[in-house]
Amino acid sequence: MPFENLLLRDQGGVRWITVNRPAKLNALDASVIAELARAVEDASADISVGAVVLTGAGEKAFVAGADIAEFVGISAEAARALAQRGQRLFDAIAALPKPVIAAVNGFALGGGCELAMACHLRVASSNARFGQPEVKLGLIPGYGGTQRLPRLVGKGRALELLLTGGTVDAATAHAWGLVNRVVEPGELHEAAQKLAEEVLAVAPGAAARCLQAVTIGLDLPLHQAQEHEAALFGLCFATEDVREGLAAFLEKRPARFTGK
Ligand code: COA
Repeated sequence: MPFENLLLRDQGGVRWITVNRPAKLNALDASVIAELARAVEDASADISVGAVVLTGAGEKAFVAGADIAEFVGISAEAARALAQRGQRLFDAIAALPKPVIAAVNGFALGGGCELAMACHLRVASSNARFGQPEVKLGLIPGYGGTQRLPRLVGKGRALELLLTGGTVDAATAHAWGLVNRVVEPGELHEAAQKLAEEVLAVAPGAAARCLQAVTIGLDLPLHQAQEHEAALFGLCFATEDVREGLAAFLEKRPARFTGK
């Protein structure tokens, strides 16, 4: 089935997924959420895809939030279900065994900030702005923002953004550890693609296990997380890629990883 609100294209093993509702600053309505879920599942299953970049269409916004128009008049129960639907999608993005990079090309507010935070890495253009302005609407973030923001920037900074509904620019987001890299708007595409290719150059199984160790481990007590890490470390030694990586180092040549 074709996508109505997403643009998809592949570049050298990288699946670019662009939310394409620029007239509404790429706000996430129910159909965008459903299409993103399908696109993420497709990217996960497609063996030709090694990494994913998520971005927004136009120069103004990455994603300016959940679609506010859809909130009007809904019941508490429906709102809870809506939040759970969004959380399922963002959890699926965070759990993808392939690196997912947000290329943040403007406003990343509310659900947009939450979407960027569900990605594994974030590259921002210098005109990007981040924030969780939900309190200004009388609500709170519902797609994981109250949990992922403090995990990324610490409780104090997270509460400042959550309680004031204010925004930070890309430079501040960088200083806070909310984004990995900041580039000029015209360089965003190349920078995100380059970062994806850097990850594609390492052993894919090792990258997947790093993602799993961090994503699952951060939610566990330290000793359990380290047990999980040790198990994943052990699994690496059942791969051809570890033999290749070690041999290549000792033979002073570049490794040729196959993902096996
Ligand atoms: N949901 C639905 N529509 C949205 C939206 C959202 N989250 N964010 C922007 N839009 C729509 C606007 O309603 C407007 O539509 P219209 O032209 O049909 O009236 C269009 O996108 C352009 O936005 P506009 O507000 O005119 O642009 P701006 O440059 O003046 O302001 C923002 C940009 C991002 C500051 C402003 O759009 C905004 O505050 N958006 C909401 C952010 C938010 O609260 N997100 C959390 C939602 S829970």
